[in-house]
Amino acid sequence: MITELLNKGFGIPHTLTFITELDGMTYVYITNNSATAKISLYGAQVLSFRPRHQEDILWVSSKSLYKQNKAIRGGIPLCWPWFGAHPTDSTKQSHGFARLSEWSVLTTEAVDEETTRIILKLQSSDETMKMWPHKFITTLTVTISNKLTVELTTNNSGNEPFTITSALHSYFNISDISKVAIHGLENSTFLDSLTNKEQTENEPIKINQEVDRIYLDHTGNCEIKDTGLERTIQIDKQGSSSTVVWNPWIDKAKRMADFGDDEYQTMLCVETTNAHTDTIEITPDKDHTLTAVISLVEQKQRPKLDHTK
Ligand code: BG6
Repeated sequence: MITELLNKGFGIPHTLTFITELDGMTYVYITNNSATAKISLYGAQVLSFRPRHQEDILWVSSKSLYKQNKAIRGGIPLCWPWFGAHPTDSTKQSHGFARLSEWSVLTTEAVDEETTRIILKLQSSDETMKMWPHKFITTLTVTISNKLTVELTTNNSGNEPFTITSALHSYFNISDISKVAIHGLENSTFLDSLTNKEQTENEPIKINQEVDRIYLDHTGNCEIKDTGLERTIQIDKQGSSSTVVWNPWIDKAKRMADFGDDEYQTMLCVETTNAHTDTIEITPDKDHTLTAVISLVEQKQRPKLDHTK
């Protein structure tokens, strides 16, 4: 019934459809001339983004739980209004409540045959006030073209300023962790969350152990070069001066109920964040937008061989 109403109000024939699946959750399926995508209304979580003729750019665990009060393990969970542990109350949910909330649909739009947009909304309520005592209107704008653009906008609709940390906690689909390097974070200082020490490296990041780092003062782009899938994923961002890199590796993967034991080999998180010291204060009526633009770097065409010579 809910799906019927959503399709009536916001569906776009042949392009955007709402489907409630056996797990009871409602998903948005998008197909246009450049890509396909799947988004969960629970958590406003982009779960799949597949440019034409490509394997998925995003990764979702085969062990993910699809149930209330559990975050879906994969895609782009929204960590909001706090990233990681709550700053003062350790009994509160890690990474906030946005990824555990049902979002509503604000608008959908077929911009052109290559571009489709949906805007989802989460607004303060009696329920959210118990978890975080501030009035807000938060929207997630997802634009599907040959790029995936995700914009998380927080508006302060109350009378007092508030402070947030947040993340577009992106899980990327990779061929094999041994065939991947992250470029763009060289020479940036990071806080190693496993040792609590600050460090810097001057080489692209290769991962061969558990990694959980917050790169501080990082406003630039990152590239995930994957020699196995012969592709490079580019992550451009705005409204963010920190970046988190995470891979749980063997032991932590085994400890997580919603993560396959070997899945650390085929995923990698490079997260566009406002984390640690990168906190954002928003005054009444003002807003802040955290944006990630995820795309594949165009492969250079090989020069054609001239057989006449
Ligand atoms: C990362 C954090 O962003 O998210 C890690 O840096 C954390 O410390 C990871 O383990 C996953 O968090 P969760 O709550 O989804 O298991």
